[in-house]
Amino acid sequence: MSQEELLLDSGQPNEDNRDRKGRSRIGLVVTGVVGGSLVALYAVAAPFVAPALRKVCLPFVPATTTQVENVLKALRARSGTLVDIGSGDGRIVIAAAKHGFRASGFELNPWLVWYSRYRAWREGVYRSTSFHISDLWKVSFAQYSNVVIFGVPQMMEKLELKLASELPSTAKVVACRFPFPTWIPESTAGEGIDTVWVYDAKTFKSHLPRRKLNSQHTSWQLFWQLL
Ligand SMILES: C[S@@+](CC[C@H](N)C(=O)[O-])C[C@H]1O[C@@H](n2cnc3c(N)ncnc32)[C@H](O)[C@@H]1O
Repeated sequence: MSQEELLLDSGQPNEDNRDRKGRSRIGLVVTGVVGGSLVALYAVAAPFVAPALRKVCLPFVPATTTQVENVLKALRARSGTLVDIGSGDGRIVIAAAKHGFRASGFELNPWLVWYSRYRAWREGVYRSTSFHISDLWKVSFAQYSNVVIFGVPQMMEKLELKLASELPSTAKVVACRFPFPTWIPESTAGEGIDTVWVYDAKTFKSHLPRRKLNSQHTSWQLFWQLL
């Protein structure tokens, strides 16, 4: 009997094969778990990191409790529709809905939108809230009579133009932490990082025609210069 036949007879190669198969199966499972975890981590983290890679970086920084209270204080005499632009985890929308507003949030990060919907459902205001996965620059806020924004200074000038051209003159806008650069607030609430500024659309919209007029005037001047 050859040495190989002897080994086969003793059953050793079969055990080795089983060991090898077992080890490669464990290897596959470990690779799958590690790979799956990395993909899941990327899927969750990417929407939070993405704002930092945009031209204007508007990261998720939730409003403080005092800030939310100041927003509600600023809008205490108001009712109707409200929108939080860049609604984060939905805390302002949910708090506003609890105070009787029909409140909506527009947010780029889908995880935050799903979490906001879940929170609204848990806190019993699912019917008076709505959350949209949208880019704030690609939607119109024309239907809202109360607007809340916790933005960054780099975006406020562009947002002034957008809101001034879209909102009805009955609207109020509340800016959290950073004021609008050229609008004049009718009031403020709170202090420090919790300050909020309240703007009346009638006032800031009255400046819009002049701006448009100025640009028309410039175009006409150019036209005459070209003749
Ligand atoms: C400073 S946080 C404010 C969150 C919330 N409004 C609050 O006060 O708790 C700004 C939010 O805007 C979102 N955001 C950034 N860029 C956006 C865009 N282009 N369109 C919509 N939301 C955006 C961010 O994901 C973030 O959740």
